Amino acid sequence: MQFDQFAGNYKQLLDRTIALSGETSEYFAEYKARYLAHVLPHDFSGKVLDFGCGVGLLSRFLKQHLPAARVDGFDVSRDSINRVDLALSTQGLFTSDMDLLARNYDLIVVANVMHHIPATQREMIVQDLASRLAPRGKLAIFEHNPANPVTRWTVDRCPFDKDVVLLARSEISQYVEKAQLRLIRRDYIVFMPRILSWLRLLEPWLAWLPLGAQYALIGEKHA
Ligand SMILES: C[S@@+](CC[C@H](N)C(=O)[O-])C[C@H]1O[C@@H](n2cnc3c(N)ncnc32)[C@H](O)[C@@H]1O
Repeated sequence: MQFDQFAGNYKQLLDRTIALSGETSEYFAEYKARYLAHVLPHDFSGKVLDFGCGVGLLSRFLKQHLPAARVDGFDVSRDSINRVDLALSTQGLFTSDMDLLARNYDLIVVANVMHHIPATQREMIVQDLASRLAPRGKLAIFEHNPANPVTRWTVDRCPFDKDVVLLARSEISQYVEKAQLRLIRRDYIVFMPRILSWLRLLEPWLAWLPLGAQYALIGEKHA
């Protein structure tokens, strides 16, 4: 709900905060959607939940890169949900009411949301999301990497990241494993700023290097 106050200019605030990278918020959102499209089967046509979808920036790219999927979104910020594009809200459910969400998602995406959730609630939320997965469904969590100094510098200057505490990858791994999901991917992502974009082809080979600006972690439910 804290995000209601940022819903109207979320993208502009984010673009300003990440300007040093030379990229816009769209670049980072599309990066995650591309990453997931690469990990999932080519003909993926399942049900996706963008948990903590905000105004739907990532949801839009999820729909674009997984065109046969249905994309739902959930966010505690009603003002953000009210700003989701009609093109998205007519193909899926975008809501602030958890009770309306399904219990058979093939993919649940949680992008840069966990650090906004109080530490005492994180494990419970991961458990709840795991319970909403279909058999072999996947939970994909993206987070800022606290080991990257540029990421920490950026988060310190972000108006909607005031007082947040970033999560080490090991903390999320623990929640995922406690929720009985099998960890199938743990990758560091987003290494090169725009000025070094010619080196981005190398990024998939750097997934082991704990210097990416963000990390991705995917857990899979048993069959
Ligand atoms: C930094 S924004 C990320 C938005 C989007 N996932 C993206 O990648 O652009 C964090 C979002 O998490 C939402 N949020 C915070 N706490 C939440 C919770 N307990 N459950 C669901 N969403 C939450 C906020 O309202 C906000 O929209």
